[in-house]
Amino acid sequence: MSTSSTPSHKNLPQKVRLVEVGPRDGLQNEPEDNLTTQFKIELIDQLSRSGLKQIEVASFVSPKWVPQMADSAEVLDKITRRSGISYAALTPNHKGVQAAIQGKADQVAVFSAASEEFTQRNINCSIAESLQRFESAIAIAKQHNLPVRGYISTVVGCPYSGDINPEQVASVCRDLFDMGCYEISLGDTVGIGTPLKVKRMLEAVARYVPITQLAMHFHDTYGQALANIYAGLEESVTVIDTSIAGLGGCPYAHGASGNVATEDVLYMLDGLGIETGVDLDSLVKVSHWLCQELNRPNGSKVSLAYSSETIDI
Ligand code: HMG
Ligand code: MG
Repeated sequence: MSTSSTPSHKNLPQKVRLVEVGPRDGLQNEPEDNLTTQFKIELIDQLSRSGLKQIEVASFVSPKWVPQMADSAEVLDKITRRSGISYAALTPNHKGVQAAIQGKADQVAVFSAASEEFTQRNINCSIAESLQRFESAIAIAKQHNLPVRGYISTVVGCPYSGDINPEQVASVCRDLFDMGCYEISLGDTVGIGTPLKVKRMLEAVARYVPITQLAMHFHDTYGQALANIYAGLEESVTVIDTSIAGLGGCPYAHGASGNVATEDVLYMLDGLGIETGVDLDSLVKVSHWLCQELNRPNGSKVSLAYSSETIDI
């Protein structure tokens, strides 16, 4: 399936890096009964064959809080690693980073939020305390030459405290960057952002952190994710987090629906002539397989639109 029209629009980036978060951000939200370790491994191995260069495959958090990710060490151990792909793990603290090192993750990601209330509910501490925890977590990662990514949730709105001031996002973002995160992923966790809000937030953040060091992590609750991503592309952001089949939500943000679907984003980027190195046909096949395995409707309109022409199911 080819939807390319080159060259890309003159005001948009030529190239974008997709960060696939489905095996972590997506599956952490599925009922545990649907998830076997073998299924996760199969999903990651299929994604690895699609041209993606970065896949978040594990999460070393408390299994009491997120039991879906309790087998992360085994997943990291048993996937078939392809050269050129960075397999990442989400880590809330020093203990998580140690487990990720033990499991030979290629990089780790720490996570906080722009909202105090969300941070309390998600990781049981204040924003300041979360940053303090990250100091030792980042230090040990650096000792082992592991790149550290940072996430900030609720960058345009919080399910508990409402609107978020872009300056608050900028402040947390600057702290994470100064602490040594190579890239900060900005999460519209509840998916309530609209393009203008996203642009204002990015403008505030970009005063402190280079735009080349930022990523967009948008959820699609109100169908705004692609429009928001386009707005971010216009601001020159070149990294996008996506989740195969639109899996996801957030266990600590009730009402939030899935992450933006990888295949929807890729379809748009291909159409804009923006290079990603990822193959849409392969992803659509993975998406169909995944939805069948999880016994859920297809999460992406792209897969539905093309299924009769290209997919053997
Ligand atoms: P806590 O209860 O405040 O902390 O949890 P604690 O230090 O007192 O530890 C409690 C228990 O957790 C202890 O075990 C620790 O050993 C254990 P116990 O003595 O009770 O048996 N523990 C750990 N176990 C495994 N791995 C660890 C770890 N650390 C402590 N790393 C904590 C604090 C952060 C651990 C907890 O709140 C937690 O795990 N929360 C889970 C948060 C989470 O995973 N949320 C979803 C991911 S974030 C997200 O999806 C948003 C994002 O996608 C961006 C967006 O969309 O906006 C990134
Ligand atoms: Mg998320």
